[in-house]
Amino acid sequence: MLVEENKPLAPFTTFGIGGPARWFAQATSEDDVAEAVAWARGRSVPLFVLGGGSNLLIADAGFAGLVLHIALRGISVAQQPDAAIYSVAAGENWDSFVQRTVDDNCAGVECLAGIPGTVGGTPVQNVGAYGQEVASAIHCVRAFDTVTERFVEFAAADCGFDYRRSRFNTTDRGLYIVTRVDYRLTLGGAPTLRYVDLQRAFPADSGATLAEVAEAVRRIRQTKGMLLVEGDADCHSAGSFFKNPVVTEEQVKHIALAAAKEPPRFPAGSGPANAGRVKVPAAWLIDQAGFAKGFTNGRAGISTRHTLALTNRGEATAAEVLALANDIANAVEARFGLCLEHEPVLLGFKSGSVSPGGRAVAEDEQKIAPR
Ligand code: EPU
Repeated sequence: MLVEENKPLAPFTTFGIGGPARWFAQATSEDDVAEAVAWARGRSVPLFVLGGGSNLLIADAGFAGLVLHIALRGISVAQQPDAAIYSVAAGENWDSFVQRTVDDNCAGVECLAGIPGTVGGTPVQNVGAYGQEVASAIHCVRAFDTVTERFVEFAAADCGFDYRRSRFNTTDRGLYIVTRVDYRLTLGGAPTLRYVDLQRAFPADSGATLAEVAEAVRRIRQTKGMLLVEGDADCHSAGSFFKNPVVTEEQVKHIALAAAKEPPRFPAGSGPANAGRVKVPAAWLIDQAGFAKGFTNGRAGISTRHTLALTNRGEATAAEVLALANDIANAVEARFGLCLEHEPVLLGFKSGSVSPGGRAVAEDEQKIAPR
């Protein structure tokens, strides 16, 4: 495994922002993953695992540790009577995998077409869009335990999935490196048409195919600037910069009073913590707080097509993006009393110094204690 020094990281991210990695290595096998962990432990340097870089904002100063780029490839399929289990290496491109499943007429991830990034990142933040979440299609996750230095497998039920959450980005943050995800998909299953944009495109009796739904999702994503398209300034982003807040009915009333109109709301999800709660779109709250699509602050801006995406409009710095994020979070808090949480991973920032809304920035590198 080759370890490079002072490697520019911006080209590895969809934002196109961020300083260099002090050290950088690429893992093309599970052995490489184990070797990289041992390398970092031996030198007492922090390790960060880089996948597709599509949900990541890297500090202008870069990262003073080892960045391990996950480049494991390969997909194998095991057929069952009504299902297919796809064992997908973490470095596979997510959208290409989705396309393969719809070509194979396997249902379960068709609404997640067009999402940038790699397969390994999908369980970490329980990727979701257009009425599906990976949590409901994942069979198991294989990962390297950086403490015991062994490979482990988690059944979906043991992954702690919730809205944009899993054990991998909460309780066990930084402990595991995902190397493979097994997806269990339904052979010949019908597409999921739960999301209003899709119901509009495909009436209930339309007999839409999985491939048609996946294509429609890509088209919708493109209208919102959420599809990676060469030359499209709006997609130099990390997708949604904020999570949609999950609030009580009481808070909804307060929001309605403050905005002098009813906010849109969506189901909050099934977990017990979500009982009696609804999700209010952060994009709507941001609009109401006075930040419109296309707003710019220096070289950082809000996408011209979706208020929730912050964009690099050309040579923006991470500091500029975070300053804009802070302005937005502060305006939403002042208007509605709600703290927006940032959604992308922030790497290389000093804890507590830069978080939108004033909260401490989580450490996203692996916690590798020296032996
Ligand atoms: N809205 C606005 N202004 C806008 C855009 C949206 O007010 O500029 C309001 C509208 O009321 C709209 C509502 O927000 O009905 C929801 O908008 P949208 O359907 O675009 O979805 P979202 O809640 O903003 C979430 C995910 C996206 C995912 C879409 C589609 C989060 C944080 N974001 O966005 O995921 O693609 O739903 O399912 O959950 C991501 O996580 O990076 C991401 C792109």
